[in-house]
Amino acid sequence: MTSASENTDNAQWGSRWVFVLAATGSAVGLGNIWKFPYITGENGGGAFVLVYLLCILLIGIPIMIAEVMLGRRAKTDPINGMKLLAHQAEASRFWMLLGVMGVLAGFLILSYYSVIAGWALDYTMDAASGAFSGVTAEQIGQSFNEGLLQNPGKLIFWHSLFMVLTMLVVARGVTRGLEMAIRFLMPALFILLAVMLGYAFSSGSFMEGFSFLFSFDASKLSGNSLLIAMGHAFFTLSLGMGAIMIYGSYMPKKASIGTTVLTVGLLDTLVALAAGLAIFPIVFANQLEPGAGPGLLFVTLPVAFGQMPFGSVFATLFFLLVTFAAWSSSISLIEPAVAWLEKRGYKRLQVSVVLGIACWLLGLGTVFSFNIWADYKLWGLNFFELLDYLTANLMLPLGGLAISIFAGWIMKRSTVQKEIAFESFAVYAMWTVTIRF
Ligand code: TRP
Repeated sequence: MTSASENTDNAQWGSRWVFVLAATGSAVGLGNIWKFPYITGENGGGAFVLVYLLCILLIGIPIMIAEVMLGRRAKTDPINGMKLLAHQAEASRFWMLLGVMGVLAGFLILSYYSVIAGWALDYTMDAASGAFSGVTAEQIGQSFNEGLLQNPGKLIFWHSLFMVLTMLVVARGVTRGLEMAIRFLMPALFILLAVMLGYAFSSGSFMEGFSFLFSFDASKLSGNSLLIAMGHAFFTLSLGMGAIMIYGSYMPKKASIGTTVLTVGLLDTLVALAAGLAIFPIVFANQLEPGAGPGLLFVTLPVAFGQMPFGSVFATLFFLLVTFAAWSSSISLIEPAVAWLEKRGYKRLQVSVVLGIACWLLGLGTVFSFNIWADYKLWGLNFFELLDYLTANLMLPLGGLAISIFAGWIMKRSTVQKEIAFESFAVYAMWTVTIRF
């Protein structure tokens, strides 16, 4: 297999299956395990989940198909790719800006993503040292807030480590660096989540958690919740910024895009729901607050691990796998930027170092928004929340909208049809309708 560091043009995944793994590796990450449960908690549960699932199905999947298609056709990074595709479709050069926004969004997201992944690293260490055995919800809440969040030095340490890990893989070239990793990590993550689900199932408050997630109460939905649900559908599927586009560009020509994308979407959704089903029963069994915010994962699961047999082993494995899931996602956040700069003639290694440092610096803003800058707010949001809102709820949906317009209206029908090659006309028609509207 060719390595992406040698020649991005010709780099390709070993097989269709590897593309599924890589795209799943990108999709499944902190978004599923950390973010989905806490925003669901903050937005009242069931109704939010339903809107989210509808967004995945009606918006996410069609756009993902479009994004893979654009990528596979362009065979290059999002910025040059959009330039090329716009040229082929005799459309304005300004479509290139879509690529620019995507590259920027990925960079901004990675800056805070790395800080949160750092929390998972810290928890891996804690778990390994047996820190969770027998802890109460109150104790773990306190050690999360005071021991970790109030401690910028510690946050910076783990953030730095995670950023180095990310840029290491990217510097080696994504296809080579990633392929090995995901083959083992993804299955392991699924098994561990199943263990957690089993625990949640036996823990008394399972039904309460279940009905929180799945009972529909429209009164809890505000306009802003709708936007958050939609933004998260983009975030969790890695859409709207060119990550899936660039992975698509490494995809073999003959693989069917439709089934591949459905598989990825399904796996991603299953992991998010499993995380929710593992976390909320613990929330209710321990009288915790579902709307506790970004710390939700980190103040609930340790309680469960602290009570189960071999809890320290499971806890260590679990947070390690969360770190790996975050790792296989973070790579895809920065790959478009790296591939683009590489095309401009810089060395992959140099680009990785420079971007890594820049992104690390920006990440300090997120580190400080949990402690010394906690009170600096704009529109009621601190630096981290602002960055998250701007990227996930505004830039990604906007990027997704632009992608649908481009694939649905601007590109030539014949090109699209040839590239997607749906088996049946009905499926093709359905895609065309959803992508257009
Ligand atoms: N989807 C990943 C998650 O859920 C995060 C992610 C990776 C992402 N690449 C992306 C989000 C590109 C948006 C765009 O954790």
